[in-house]
This record gives sequence, structure tokens and C-alpha cells, in this order.
Amino acid sequence: MSAGPMDDRLHADRVTLRYDRRTIASDLSLSIPDGSFTVIVGPNACGKSTLLRALSRLLIPADGQVVLDGGDIADLAAKEVARRLGLLPQSSLAPDGIRVADLVARGRYPHQSFFRQWSEADEEAVAAAMRATRITELSGRLVDELSGGQRQRIWIAMVLAQQTPILLLDEPTTFLDIAHQIELLDLLAGLNAEGRTIIAVLHDLNHACRYATHLLVMKQGAIVAE
Ligand SMILES: Nc1ncnc2c1ncn2[C@@H]1O[C@H](COP(=O)(O)OP(=O)(O)O)[C@@H](O)[C@H]1O
Ligand SMILES: [Mg+2]
Repeated sequence: MSAGPMDDRLHADRVTLRYDRRTIASDLSLSIPDGSFTVIVGPNACGKSTLLRALSRLLIPADGQVVLDGGDIADLAAKEVARRLGLLPQSSLAPDGIRVADLVARGRYPHQSFFRQWSEADEEAVAAAMRATRITELSGRLVDELSGGQRQRIWIAMVLAQQTPILLLDEPTTFLDIAHQIELLDLLAGLNAEGRTIIAVLHDLNHACRYATHLLVMKQGAIVAE
């Protein structure tokens, strides 16, 4: 754990989050303790997904800033951010006709460049992510043909393949049956034990209390309990 909130790698400093003219949160500050398994809970539409988008630079605050490694995240290139943090959004649409292994491989995009194309490290990261989410046997299948639960595991594999020190997951257990929910949460707890910082929005309070090392309760765009 770090010395204080301002030393944490990821924090929000008095941010206002807004869509067009609709303000979802104002003057919101919070810090994600390094090495924590932070769980965010709160009623529907209170702004959990909006907060996760802001923490991962998909949404730039109208006021205030999100700080990653000491600087405003808005000043970092998207690819630079993607090497440090990975986001599993609440819902994603796969490109038509894509196969499982190719979708997971897209998680390696931030590690590639004109000079550094597909490598053995990429291959190994994809294989490891598919093993961890038990989708190896689906590798050659078309994503469109799979069930909701299988697809969710593929998205999780994609963000795992990104191999970032910080992982943000928006309701990752959605579409999973209870056995797979526990399996996923255990997997995240294992990654956390290895030193990764995990931030997850969960709707199940029992899961939240069981897995969180740091719990944030949100209501109407504010943190009401911590
Ligand atoms: N792209 C968007 N444009 C406009 N309003 C949005 C958008 N996304 C979410 N909202 C609104 O922002 C509020 C917070 O949404 P969200 O962050 O998704 O809440 P939660 O994840 O807690 O359910 C909701 O009222 C929602 O309707
Ligand atoms: Mg949401």
C-alpha cells in the first residue's frame, strides 16, 4: 500500500463528469489504493460506468482531472494508457465474423508498433489469457455463434491479454452462471494477490464484501461510503 491517496497511481481529483449538458458527478475525488481489489457498488444509473470510463480516459472530465502516475491522464496517448490500464466495458460488440483467438489477440494492440509486430510474448499472453478464462477450446470459433457467458469470458480474456498492472472491470460477472462468476472472481483475486490493482463494479453485495479489499459505495454521482 502507498503512503497516501495522492501517491496512488490512479486517482480522481475533484472531477465533474458530464454528458452534453447532463452532469453525472461533480467535485468527485477518490483514490484507488495501489495493489487493492477495489469494488464499486451502487444503484442503477448512479454513475458507476461513467466513473470507470473517466478513470480509463474514455471520458475526459469537464472539470478536475484523473491522475495516472502523477500526471493528467488526458495528456497521455490512448496507447500509453492502454499499456498501464485495461478496461472491460459493461457491454461490447464484437466485429462481425471475428474468431475467438483473433478477438483476444486485439488485447495485445497497445504492445505493438510499426517496429514491433506480433511476437512470441504476444502469443504467450493470448494463450495464457485463454487458459485462465477456459476458452482455449473455443479458440477457432466465431464469436457471434457463442452464448452470452462464453462471449463474456472472451472479452475478459482480451483485457487479461493486455497484461496491464491496473485492471478495470464493469460488471464482469454479467451473463455468467454462478460457477463461472466465482471462478472469475477467484481469478481476479489471484491476479490481485500477484500485485495487480483491480477495480470492479459488481452488483452482488455478497461478492463485493467477500472479494473487496476496498469498497466504494456510490449514490447519485457521489461516494457515500468507503
Ligand atoms: N452516453 C451517454 N449519454 C448520455 N447519458 C448517459 C450516457 N451514458 C450514461 N448516461 C446516463 O448517465 C447516468 C449514469 O449512468 P451510468 O454511469 O451508466 O450508471 P451505472 O453504471 O451506475 O448504472 C444515467 O442516468 C445514464 O442514463
Ligand atoms: Mg453501469
